[in-house]
Amino acid sequence: MINDLKRAFFNIFQQEPEACYFAPGRVNLIGEHIDYNGGWVMPCAIHAGTWLLIRFNNESLIRLHSHNFSANAAVPINNNYSKNGNEWFYYSLGVIKALQQEFNLNISGLDLYYFGNIPIGAGLSSSASIEVLTAYAISDLYKLDIPPLDMVKMTQRVENLYIGVQSGIMDQFAVTYGQKNKAMLLNCSSLYHQEIDCNLGDYNLVIINTNKTRKLEDSKYNERVQECNSVLKILQTQINIQYLCDLSFTEWLQYQHLVKDKTLQKRASHVITENERVKNAAEALKKADLNYFGELMFQSHLSLKEYYEVTGVELDTIVDFCSNYYDVIGARMTGAGFGGCAIALLKKGKEKDFTQKLVSFYKEKIGYHPDVYIQEIGGGPTKIF
Ligand code: GLA
Repeated sequence: MINDLKRAFFNIFQQEPEACYFAPGRVNLIGEHIDYNGGWVMPCAIHAGTWLLIRFNNESLIRLHSHNFSANAAVPINNNYSKNGNEWFYYSLGVIKALQQEFNLNISGLDLYYFGNIPIGAGLSSSASIEVLTAYAISDLYKLDIPPLDMVKMTQRVENLYIGVQSGIMDQFAVTYGQKNKAMLLNCSSLYHQEIDCNLGDYNLVIINTNKTRKLEDSKYNERVQECNSVLKILQTQINIQYLCDLSFTEWLQYQHLVKDKTLQKRASHVITENERVKNAAEALKKADLNYFGELMFQSHLSLKEYYEVTGVELDTIVDFCSNYYDVIGARMTGAGFGGCAIALLKKGKEKDFTQKLVSFYKEKIGYHPDVYIQEIGGGPTKIF
């Protein structure tokens, strides 16, 4: 594959690439819509990811091409790279702009060619993968020596301020710190993190793509962030907390009467119960109690459906099917929701039967087919050559 990418690079730029880098996508096992509320999440990096081939040029241009999209760009350096659309290359330009502004990156020109095998807009962080990859590659090439945590925070700022999605830190963190066969238990307020062996025994982690794509910029993502901020402001008039997840479930029961709006109450109920579920899920995974872990996944989905209202008929159809399939012990949506992917713990050896039955169930109800992938848990960014 790398040779094909090198050939494609040469065809576009008429020069060999200087170097090649890889960064993964991520899947979140549990802890959804928790990161921007300062609580616990449990993502892991996946094998699928993005590759970048790169070379310097002396033409004062940043040229961006992708195997996956026809849109490309040739942007003069030192302008402010204003964002005039939703094309993929703005994720890279935003990072290059941040590197120039925050890390004194001084460039004479760059040629970049991306290839990704993460389904786009599917909740597996194809965007964080491009952002972290760009930062990692350029930092290495120019010997900027950027500590990983600074890279995480910088790429999150790009997402928030340049792309315009008020996302939390989970995606960039998982992509940067992912480790093979480990789930990451991350506290999004202190950034304390712990790697947990992801020993799934007789089960596989299956990712099911609804094939309903969405762009977070256009979704209700920012609305949910605002709703949580509104609850926080109300509670802060009475209690000293910095994030919604600073409240335990018992404290929430004590104070929820302060929140009069029923919708806001539901949003907060999801956040506070989900945060508790992550802590329980971490204990379950450490003890390899997969049945309990799976049960928590189903509970998480229900809460995202009923209280947070970010699932939709496609994701619900998949999780409904899974809850009636004997050899699935847990399933839930993953990522932001509004379409994208679900995950399930499926007994090894049942892949074919599961896929056939799920595809026909889903097709009948939704009208098109879902995709099913068995994903391995991969590591963080690396230099390929
Ligand atoms: C998106 C965001 C993350 C996180 C999830 C929901 O992936 O980028 O920061 O909020 O949604 O858990």
